[in-house]
Amino acid sequence: MMPHFLDLATPTAAGLRAILDEAHRRKAARAGWPRGRVDADAPLAGHVLAMIFEKPSTRTRFSFDMAIRQLGGTSIVATAVDMQLGRGETVEDTARVLGRMVDAVMIRSNSHATLETLADHAGIPVINALTDISHPCQVMADIMTFEERRGQKVEGSCWAYLGDGNNMANSLVEAASVLGFDLRLGVPHGYDPDQAVLATAGCRGGSIDLVRSAKAAVEGAQVVVTDTWVSMGQISAKDKLGAMMPFQVDRALMAKAQPDALFLHCLPAHRGEEVTADVIDGPQSAVWDEAENRLHVQKAILLWCLGKL
Ligand code: CP
Ligand code: NVA
Repeated sequence: MMPHFLDLATPTAAGLRAILDEAHRRKAARAGWPRGRVDADAPLAGHVLAMIFEKPSTRTRFSFDMAIRQLGGTSIVATAVDMQLGRGETVEDTARVLGRMVDAVMIRSNSHATLETLADHAGIPVINALTDISHPCQVMADIMTFEERRGQKVEGSCWAYLGDGNNMANSLVEAASVLGFDLRLGVPHGYDPDQAVLATAGCRGGSIDLVRSAKAAVEGAQVVVTDTWVSMGQISAKDKLGAMMPFQVDRALMAKAQPDALFLHCLPAHRGEEVTADVIDGPQSAVWDEAENRLHVQKAILLWCLGKL
């Protein structure tokens, strides 16, 4: 089977663990190096990654581009509107063409179906760089950050997610279930994670609890995660913001978690909405390490997809 990286439910726990371990190892091996220097073994020399964006991006774009460079390869970046895809060429035909020209494709797509169609027809590995349903690369970076800051593996740890049951929430559910950690989701009624993701996750490991109280979600948690209340492609609605407000992460809420709990946010953040400035800019926040770790974990994801792990 082609090793696509489409979600966190399909790889095995051993596969995800191999990616995390490789990310930690490679990050440590190049500490202090200039960022443009290629890793000593240049494992993807001669390889080309295509990067397609149907939505805006800062972190994903720069981190994937730097990742393939540090592995010795190169990238081609395009927005969908620059491509014939934006004029109606089918995803299937686009996939067949790219599959003849590059070694792997990363796509940020409006719809998860586009990602899956691309993967079905490309004949080369396809990586999910965010869809409406999931954001697996980001959650791998979150887990790496927890392990690095805490010096312990994620397995058996206790996480809380607050706010909108969006793509980040879905990927956290899948990760908790495959790797085996506890996740409490504090989300208001009407904004639950994807039902299909919840249903599949329940059959695996970890414990996934949907609670309607922010306090109950964070009690004793080692990590508190939140995300924007209005994802790309969604319309900002007053009633949604009202429903989300009790799930805002502020200092009082952080105080209910473990005293050394980490705060994570995939960014971009909206201070005063999903998180207060004193939390995201405060001592428990690990958001800048988290952003940097996109680079390190995605190098390991590329290696996994290209059969080098
Ligand atoms: N967290 C994240 O994916 O950021 P970008 O939208 O900037 O890529
Ligand atoms: N849930 C957010 C994540 C941004 C990185 C969105 O989809 O816009």
